[in-house]
Amino acid sequence: MSGSNHLSVLVAGSANLDFVVRASHVPAPGETVLGRELATFPGGKGANQALACARAGGAATRLLLALGEDAYAEPIERSLREAGVELSIRRSRDRATGTAFVCVSDSGENAITVAPGANADLRGEDLPALDGVGWLLLQLETPLGAVDAWARRAREAGVSVALNAAPARALPASLLDCVDLLIVNEGELAALTGIAGDLDAGLAALRVPRVIVTLGARGCLARIDGQHLRQDAFAVEVVDTTAAGDTFCGVLVAALAGGADIPDALRRACAASALACTRLGAQTSVPTHAEVEQLLQTADAAAFVGGA
Ligand code: RIB
Repeated sequence: MSGSNHLSVLVAGSANLDFVVRASHVPAPGETVLGRELATFPGGKGANQALACARAGGAATRLLLALGEDAYAEPIERSLREAGVELSIRRSRDRATGTAFVCVSDSGENAITVAPGANADLRGEDLPALDGVGWLLLQLETPLGAVDAWARRAREAGVSVALNAAPARALPASLLDCVDLLIVNEGELAALTGIAGDLDAGLAALRVPRVIVTLGARGCLARIDGQHLRQDAFAVEVVDTTAAGDTFCGVLVAALAGGADIPDALRRACAASALACTRLGAQTSVPTHAEVEQLLQTADAAAFVGGA
């Protein structure tokens, strides 16, 4: 995107190598499930979101990440570089590259346990220069003190801050006060607000000016500067929902950085996350710009025929 007038996106967050086993169902506490073959995929919420942002094509994308000096780092770096993500790497001598242990059920649901490893080494001072950056995209798989410091620095520099508050946890007001756009699922909204089962009340309880709640097969609901917007999901055959939320975040922020309005950005993000559910793995499942365009056009054509 160099040469375009668009501001770039900086993602600061986690990178993991995902160890994935498919099984009939995700084990309940205390249960052992016999799964099938093991596969590894590049993952981590920060890395997945950066890759989704770069594949969306609306803005140049850089990722601040931490990796160990080990064999797990190489496939992650390769996947990101091949997608066109520029990397600012903090190399950890003492900790291994982050790993995630993922069980994917036959219905496409997952359960994930993360061993943060090198991700835990990231610090506030690691954030690269913000010149030319329009959006900073953050998640919660890196130390909270670092996330807080990054958001504050961006706010002071006039850079818009998007926070995907995943994994779910309560957050200090100091962090939320620096956030322009918050993206959560229903569980994360409940963890942040203490309100479960009432989306409108949960949305109203947050002081962040723009909040989006992703609703899986029901699409998403947004409160944008006091106005509520809804975007339906795109129907697909679900194989694996891993990184569907990350794809949503990366594509949404890429679209906003590229000048799209919120309804268009929500539609693109929902289409891309639907496509991410049709393939196994995290970064391997993130669609290209062309694939998202194709789905949007097919949906438009179907709506036209249905409406004729
Ligand atoms: O959001 C999916 C991601 O969560 C996986 O790639 C895994 O690494 C964990 O970070």
